[in-house]
Amino acid sequence: MDSRFNVMDADFIRDPYPTYRRLQEEAPVYWHEPTGYWWLTRHDDVWNALRDPMFRSGRVDALLGNVPDAQQEPKRILRELLEPRLLLTDGPRHARLRSLIGQAFAPREIERMRPVVRATIQEQLDTLRNRSRIEVMSELADPLPSRMICRIIGLPSERFDEFKAWTNDIYAFIGIASGSRGDQAAIAARSGQAVAEFLEKEIAVRRRRPSDDLLSTLIQAEEVGGRLTHPEIIANVVGLLNAGHETTTNLLGNGLFLLLQHPHIMHELRSDPDRIGAVIEEMARLESPVQILGRRLDERLLLHDVELPVGSNVLLLTGAANRDPWAFDDPDRFDIFRAGSRSVSFGYGPHFCIGAALARVIAEEFFRSLLAEWTSLSLVGPIHWRPYPIFRGVSSMTVEVERRRTPGMAIRAEPIEELGLGVLHEPTDTTELN
Ligand code: HEM
Repeated sequence: MDSRFNVMDADFIRDPYPTYRRLQEEAPVYWHEPTGYWWLTRHDDVWNALRDPMFRSGRVDALLGNVPDAQQEPKRILRELLEPRLLLTDGPRHARLRSLIGQAFAPREIERMRPVVRATIQEQLDTLRNRSRIEVMSELADPLPSRMICRIIGLPSERFDEFKAWTNDIYAFIGIASGSRGDQAAIAARSGQAVAEFLEKEIAVRRRRPSDDLLSTLIQAEEVGGRLTHPEIIANVVGLLNAGHETTTNLLGNGLFLLLQHPHIMHELRSDPDRIGAVIEEMARLESPVQILGRRLDERLLLHDVELPVGSNVLLLTGAANRDPWAFDDPDRFDIFRAGSRSVSFGYGPHFCIGAALARVIAEEFFRSLLAEWTSLSLVGPIHWRPYPIFRGVSSMTVEVERRRTPGMAIRAEPIEELGLGVLHEPTDTTELN
């Protein structure tokens, strides 16, 4: 297989699976010249690497390696923003950060959010009442996770577009790309500073007047090993905005696309709504929202007769592992009755997705509400995929819908303000800071 193949190639983005299969068969340890990464595609290798401390997540030096030395200031800003990020730490620091941040994402905390998620979706659906055609991504799947994540953190969701633009610049820098990263680093550093300045103000307000949100929890949290430092709070809030939004949007979009292509499963779900959990796991396996994870090798490794030197940059292709025929029978089939699945859609091992429970609740309520609201849904025209190899997601998808005649059949949701789960974010009183 050509070691210079283009990861941005439109055919690869649209359907990466034949390439993954070839790699699994012909080059399970594959050197990709343009990105400078070794790729692992087989399920066993990805699974083992995810729990092996030799594959380190802390790899900021590698990420900053391609930034020219002249860009000292952007490098300093990015290092400060990336080094304390949960996803990019290992060992005791990772364990300490994870136990502090994890409190807010414990399944019972997330379960408390379920009525709010349901009410938020119903509010969105109510605004579409008189419509028979809907662009699902921009009108439903994109705004929903951002509203929920902003709510948990305690940020004003009406400013999410700004956070998203800033955090996307940072993400673009972390992503795989070839060549010098000078321009991307400068853009990412500028956006990093903008988001940090915004968060500084929010943190100052919380220090004076704590609220029931994650930002207040992070400020107050005390553990063995001490509080989160100020840079750790900023880095991890930015990290959560990055990690939680597009991934969940992609699960909703990819999942709906799969249901539209498999009407018998949509039918099965209507007649047995309790299958929703299994359906979502299978959606996440088959069209994994996160296709690729990065690691750096701490030791020399011999794998499938290929020697990887110490310090090698490695990509773990979870999207390929989830379709490995050695791990899953008939792996390209949407099969909601798979038992004992070893899917790596949410990762595995110490870095297993901290937001998995939230993503599942959002997805469960999303699909339940859509099926309760509409008796029929059908695809109109072609869909498009977002142009990134790391995240896989439908970027636009129009559906035609028919509404249930008796409104009483739809899922009932209490108005958000009556749910008694704390106030939604109040606009920051900036005058207090002056
Ligand atoms: C369908 C939605 C989601 C998918 C598919 C997903 C996938 C993943 C995966 C594969 C990892 C492992 C990364 C690694 O090992 O390098 C991960 C980690 C993480 N995810 Fe998610 N995620 C989703 C939603 C969320 C949400 C909603 C949040 C929070 C708001 C979140 C926050 C995180 C964080 C903070 C980590 C790092 C955990 C650590 O390093 O210990 N994710 N996610």
